[in-house]
Amino acid sequence: MRNIAILTSGGDSPGMNMAIRAVVRSGFHYGFNVYGVYNGYKGLVKGEIKKMTRETVSRILNRGGTILGSARFEKFKELDYQKLAVKNLKEKNIEGLVVIGGDGTFRGALDLHNLGIKCICLPGTIDNDIPSTDYTIGFFTALNTAVDSIDKLRDTSFSHRRCSVVELMGRHCGDLTLYAGIAVGSEFIITPETGYDKKKTLAAVKDSYRRNKRHAVVVVTEHMVDVNQLAKDIESETGYETRATVLGHVQRGGTPSAFDRVLATEMAEYGVELLSRNIGGKVIGLRGLNMVDYDIEEALKMKKDISNKRYGLVGMLAQ
Ligand code: F6P
Repeated sequence: MRNIAILTSGGDSPGMNMAIRAVVRSGFHYGFNVYGVYNGYKGLVKGEIKKMTRETVSRILNRGGTILGSARFEKFKELDYQKLAVKNLKEKNIEGLVVIGGDGTFRGALDLHNLGIKCICLPGTIDNDIPSTDYTIGFFTALNTAVDSIDKLRDTSFSHRRCSVVELMGRHCGDLTLYAGIAVGSEFIITPETGYDKKKTLAAVKDSYRRNKRHAVVVVTEHMVDVNQLAKDIESETGYETRATVLGHVQRGGTPSAFDRVLATEMAEYGVELLSRNIGGKVIGLRGLNMVDYDIEEALKMKKDISNKRYGLVGMLAQ
């Protein structure tokens, strides 16, 4: 294998640029030419592929987003589009492809792998919803952004003796909400893993009011509940004036944390080293302090462990 390529796909996450940089530079170290594919699988199908140089990846390590661009491209599930992608790669004699993204990105890579392209998948998403790794590239940066925002909300909430209901991203995974809930000392968390129990939520906030707390925070994963309605319910049932805040896409941006930069670098180098030994069809993960790899198919079948202990902390420490 002489030529490899890299693409970013799905929702961008902070640290993707660091991963791109590390794929390019370790690619050079292992003797590859490295190509960048622009705009994810959509760009791959259109043939948006350019050779990368040291210069194309310099001064990007502290930038959020992805310099290659990203896209959600449902049509890539269709064989005709996958074949077009393979044709575009083969035209440039590209035999290996590193993809950075979430499980949808990995499914695309599995399809390409089955069509003969050696694919390596790096988990890059703020949701931390990839079971084959303890942490994904971008999760801790998004968490810091969320915590920083909620700390600011607490300042105003405290001044007015209010409750803040804060909606976080995460899609079907409560990790961002859970970790943020612990970090800001929230009264209650609502995640896909806990489900929504209106009675329990109101009781927890009411309890804080009775104990004369000047502020309360309820963190909620997106899609779980209408946060404006919940704010109204809290206000009418507990005594706290309440405001709802949806943090939204701000969680996806910003300078990647040091942890995410190191994680992205180590995962990228690990993946490129596998390609240098002609090994593809793998998802890279972090287990404890170690880099690991799994077959893509195996990784896609895994289920995420729920940390009951960690969930228990929120209620216990709110008292
Ligand atoms: O997967 C990352 C993520 O930010 C999710 O948390 C969220 O549900 C989704 O992407 C939003 O997608 P979009 O940016 O396409 O609206």
